[in-house]
Amino acid sequence: MKPEGLRPVRITGLGKFFPRRKLTNADLEKMVDTSDEWITTRTGIKERYITGPDEPTSSLAIPAARQALANAGMAPEQVDLIIVATVTPDMFFPATACLVQAALGARRAACFDLEAACPQFIYACAVGSQFIATGTYDCVLVIAADTLSKIVNWEDRNTCVLFGDGAGAAVLQPGPEGRGFLSFVLGSDGAGAELLNLPAGGSRCPASHESVANHLHTIHMNGLEVFKFAVRAMPEAALESLSRAGLTAADIDLLIPHQANLRIIEAARRRLGLPKSKVFVNIEKYGNFSGATCPVALAEAVDQGLLQDGSVVVLSTFGAGLTWAACTIRW
Ligand code: ACO
Repeated sequence: MKPEGLRPVRITGLGKFFPRRKLTNADLEKMVDTSDEWITTRTGIKERYITGPDEPTSSLAIPAARQALANAGMAPEQVDLIIVATVTPDMFFPATACLVQAALGARRAACFDLEAACPQFIYACAVGSQFIATGTYDCVLVIAADTLSKIVNWEDRNTCVLFGDGAGAAVLQPGPEGRGFLSFVLGSDGAGAELLNLPAGGSRCPASHESVANHLHTIHMNGLEVFKFAVRAMPEAALESLSRAGLTAADIDLLIPHQANLRIIEAARRRLGLPKSKVFVNIEKYGNFSGATCPVALAEAVDQGLLQDGSVVVLSTFGAGLTWAACTIRW
């Protein structure tokens, strides 16, 4: 529960953006030894959006941020802090958040990037919320954006069919008592770091001809172990978040799970005892595009009129690290 004296924090505007190019399962059938039938039955994914060579992560983050600010009725000059949550920054440095700031003209904003793999939108909301709750800042722009297509090995059918590109953004501001974020749960288990990583390009294995030839700059994943972790972590994080808000699974109006695999979402739904109507799914259109799946799903749920004033929404995610996160929102 929220400690005394802290301001409630709510989302006042959401935005999303995808690149133009769509890659269908039929397209993938021409690239690797796979089939629409395999991808659909094992993952639920039918198509995903893919950036071109001239589209870095910031090119998705900027329009998503503009839309979120417009929906919140805020001007870029009013933003105090920009956090870009990404595993695929434009460059190691400067932070992609600085590039977004310059494009938006958000001159007053402090800027940094945050990396916590797929749960990073919730991590970034948790961090941004602290500044608003304590009264340090009044307007925080959180953007989750990734171009996983740039770090996928397009010859590896085990991974290349799963991922896509996209961005989602949220404006955080002080809200009325009893509304907004009721709780956050953030967790990590670095002992599982080897299960899902991108081995080269950092200080451990700087880029070399050999690292490129060995595909070490692409996603490496133990799919089965990540699957087993995910079906446990996602519902448990959701339940802990509900419990910290003084609620139970029976109070959920809408669950927004990380969109990584339909079978993982289904397992979480069953564990929480929810009907399908209370679980948001759009994985068939986008695949897994990392931290942005949650804000995009939230934006689409709002557009579809699925949330009313006072609805209880739970976001729950898992990812590389290993990491997991959940939050409970009273809309
Ligand atoms: N097309 C056809 N066959 C394939 C493909 C493909 N695209 N990919 C794998 N196969 C084959 C495998 O080679 C294997 O063949 P084999 O039995 O001859 O060795 C067979 O299909 C079965 O493979 P499994 O690994 O058992 O398939 P499974 O049903 O477990 O599904 C999957 C694999 C989809 C990767 C699943 O394990 C999964 O979703 N894991 C979680 C992955 C995930 O969510 N990662 C991201 C989380 S973090 C983040 O979001 C960045």
